[in-house]
Amino acid sequence: MKSLSGDLIAPRLAQLRREKPAMPVNRLLYECLRDAIHDASLPAATRLPPTRDLALQAGISRNTVMHAYEQLMAEGYTKGLTGSGTYVAQRIPDLAPVKPSPAVVALPGKAVAGRLSARGRKVVMNAKAQSTQWGAFLPGVPDVTQVPHAKLAQITARLSRELPPATLSYATNGGYPKLHQSLAVYLRQARSVVCEPGQIVVTEGVHQAIDLITRVLGDAGDHAWVEEPGYWGTRSILEINGIRLKPMPVDAEGMRFARNAAGKPPRFAFVTPSHQYPLGPVMSLARRLDLLAYATRHGTWVVEDDYDSEFRFSGHPVASLQGLLPGAPVIYVGTFSKTLYPGLRMAYMVVPAPFAAAFRTAQSELYRGGHMLQQAALAEFMDSGQYAAHIRRMRLIYSARRAYLMGLVEQSLGPGWVHEYDSNAGLHLVLSLPPGSDDVAIAADAAAQGVIARPLSNYYLGRNPRPGLMLAFASIPQEEMLAPWRIVARCILKACGKRAEPPVATPTRCA
Ligand SMILES: Cc1ncc(COP(=O)(O)O)c(C=O)c1O
Repeated sequence: MKSLSGDLIAPRLAQLRREKPAMPVNRLLYECLRDAIHDASLPAATRLPPTRDLALQAGISRNTVMHAYEQLMAEGYTKGLTGSGTYVAQRIPDLAPVKPSPAVVALPGKAVAGRLSARGRKVVMNAKAQSTQWGAFLPGVPDVTQVPHAKLAQITARLSRELPPATLSYATNGGYPKLHQSLAVYLRQARSVVCEPGQIVVTEGVHQAIDLITRVLGDAGDHAWVEEPGYWGTRSILEINGIRLKPMPVDAEGMRFARNAAGKPPRFAFVTPSHQYPLGPVMSLARRLDLLAYATRHGTWVVEDDYDSEFRFSGHPVASLQGLLPGAPVIYVGTFSKTLYPGLRMAYMVVPAPFAAAFRTAQSELYRGGHMLQQAALAEFMDSGQYAAHIRRMRLIYSARRAYLMGLVEQSLGPGWVHEYDSNAGLHLVLSLPPGSDDVAIAADAAAQGVIARPLSNYYLGRNPRPGLMLAFASIPQEEMLAPWRIVARCILKACGKRAEPPVATPTRCA
């Protein structure tokens, strides 16, 4: 029998199935019902349609409906009354996942754009961040479901009973001193960074660190070398601060530059030497020494963005650039976004000792920091050895996922598609596409089918980008990778004019 709530759910489910074809239908139905309960389309005490009726109305199996109903009941969204069906609970769970807000990363219309400042227009009209920040194959996000949240919460709960009130006020002095100490130990041991706790400034992510560096050390009109291709986030922040970008090509040895280049030396050189983003080469020792010598001679600030160096799957860890030449004008930046989770918004930088006070003061003036309870908890988490243990565990997981995705790529497309600068590290792969491919169109085709595969050309500033696709594997378990990969492979093969259907066999190189 048709029901009103069935009328509401069936079209919503059909829409979701179009948007996310790779997701199991019982999961989509669960999401549909959960969201309808949250937005009160299905208010408290509403009776859900009988499973048989909803199955008929939505054109799915009764088992699928039963699975979704069981999940809702297990999470407290519904109550079953014997003999009379399933009802929406009077109180829905507070901690349940809520419907995301509408996309905020959207371009404003002409009327709004015309009233923004030139700087505002630059930041908004050039926005590159996705409005969705989870799912296959979104780059830059670790598997946040693996974070030992219970352990962190335990430490936080205990500390919150002991902390002196001052630690719950505004943060000054570049963050919580105990975290400076824990970070100094970690960075010396794990990253060969030469530092004392007093040189460390804790920031809300790498983005804040780069903004602070740019404002404290640069002026509008200054030049910065940036890697080509490179991280769009760094470029946006520099441009908003009036810094002029000079893209420097990346090759197998990292960023390339002419040692004796004519013209004014740049104020900054922004590099990702341990694992160039996005292509993946490690900066060679010769290039590192050249860069440090150049920077020392010309007073150029080298900013080392060490965003994911913890995840290298073969060979030795790559030591930091900062530790190579103590006293060189290098600012080292690292983050907890990849080792723990991006929503933590916690990163750190190591600045030369004479500049530490200036950075701490500027940070407090500009952003009025906070989160010292979280910082205290992180310090304890690091000191107890649990942080290093978590990284070791995740390294194994990511290594297996990476090998699995490499296997899928090779089985579907054949050898030679993974970018030649790949260095078996990090959280993503770059696929090279044949010259002349339209990677933006291929990415749009995949996105229309619910899969994110960012086009490599978006990471270039210049006119001759190489086409490719960024595929992150970190947040997708092997058993969930095949379906979204098949979508991407089909889009590639369609665009490259080869067979329309990629092979679907499970790869043998599955760890
Ligand atoms: C090269 C690079 N640096 C920095 C970041 C961002 O770090 P955070 O989350 O700490 O701002 C990213 C994010 O993907 C990145 O790719």
